[in-house]
Amino acid sequence: MILVTGGAGFIGANFVIDWLRVMGEAVVNVDKLTYAGNLGTLQSLHDDPRHSFARADICDRAAIGQLLSTYKPRAIVHFAAESHVDRSIHGPGDFVQTNVIGTFTLLEAAREYWSALEGEAKTSFRFLHVSTDEVFGSLGADDAPFSETTAYAPNSPYSASKAGSDHLVRAWHHTYGLPVLTTNCSNNYGPYQFPEKLIPLMITRALSGDALPVYGDGQNVRDWLYVGDHCSAIREVLVRGVPGETYNVGGWNEMKNLDVVHVLCDLLDRERPKQAGSYRDQITRVTDRPGHDRRYAIDARKLERELGWKPAETFESGLAKTVQWYLDNQEWVDDVASGDYRKWVTTHYAKVA
Ligand code: NAD
Ligand code: DAU
Repeated sequence: MILVTGGAGFIGANFVIDWLRVMGEAVVNVDKLTYAGNLGTLQSLHDDPRHSFARADICDRAAIGQLLSTYKPRAIVHFAAESHVDRSIHGPGDFVQTNVIGTFTLLEAAREYWSALEGEAKTSFRFLHVSTDEVFGSLGADDAPFSETTAYAPNSPYSASKAGSDHLVRAWHHTYGLPVLTTNCSNNYGPYQFPEKLIPLMITRALSGDALPVYGDGQNVRDWLYVGDHCSAIREVLVRGVPGETYNVGGWNEMKNLDVVHVLCDLLDRERPKQAGSYRDQITRVTDRPGHDRRYAIDARKLERELGWKPAETFESGLAKTVQWYLDNQEWVDDVASGDYRKWVTTHYAKVA
């Protein structure tokens, strides 16, 4: 079996569901269940004997050590993190704690466990660390996309904490020989994404008639990847990636934020027309995010060249699926948008109509 951390969050849960469907191999899913983790997302696995859930903090060395010796996984796929840039600006402490100390603690538990393995179990063990393109900083309009050799230049507390975790993972390979793999991915979207991130935030606020807050001039660029494609990339890297290597994962799909919001509004106008006017009428420009990175873009050619991976979805097909999913799963949104979420929205978007 494999051990997944953060498997009750957006990408982790998509990965676990996808892994069980495609690979059929058992998973122990370790998650602290912060505001971003939801067991409701895993409801379809409720009676699946291949899925075991353990509520634990990756900073808790004893708990992680116990889980490793109980389940004896052949690999660890590490998603657990504080993941929202805006929250990292309001409160960076949790990001350093989980992303840096948590990854360090997990690495140490993994090293102890892996060191005691023998033969094939030891050589085939893998620790896959899921990271982000934000560690590379911000691109100018004409710069080449981030490659695996781009120098790190993180700009937010979130990306700095992820960069710290990447460095620890790298060092545990070089110093101790732990067979690690690192993936650096661009912006994901798709089902089960917490409605604090751009795409689900805009869909849910559009439907509830709230203002759609676009930061600054709306011209910041992100490279969007459908979450199912991220899951297939991680599977490929886990199966065939070379220990010690890093792999960039991206959608070849750069879009300006305002254009993304326009496309979303147009899709909603078609699927769920308003009584009068367009969802575009709800768009509001708001104060920019401090230190807002201007452009991210991923050069994913290494993954294609070495492991044969390419994204399957276009932005049009992925976004249409995503909008339909949110329209069909209003109940999931209502469940996750509980106390903590309301508090976040009230504080962060205080000045937005
Ligand atoms: P998310 O915020 O939706 O989920 C994070 C999960 O981790 C939650 O279930 C949460 O409960 C759990 N968690 C948080 N702290 C924990 C702790 N101390 N111990 C155990 N569990 C803990 O995040 P996501 O968007 O699914 O991102 C998953 C990973 O992918 C993160 O490492 C993130 O940095 C990375 N990533 C995300 C994106 C994106 O666009 N969302 C892109 C590239 C990389
Ligand atoms: O690039 C990968 C990263 O993508 C991941 O590592 C992070 O975990 C993930 O949260 C995401 O970070 P971003 O900051 O790019 O995502 P977010 O959805 O928060 O914002 C996307 C863009 O939209 C960004 O330029 C800021 C803008 N934005 C966001 C929000 C929430 C707005 O204009 N208005 C908003 O209300």
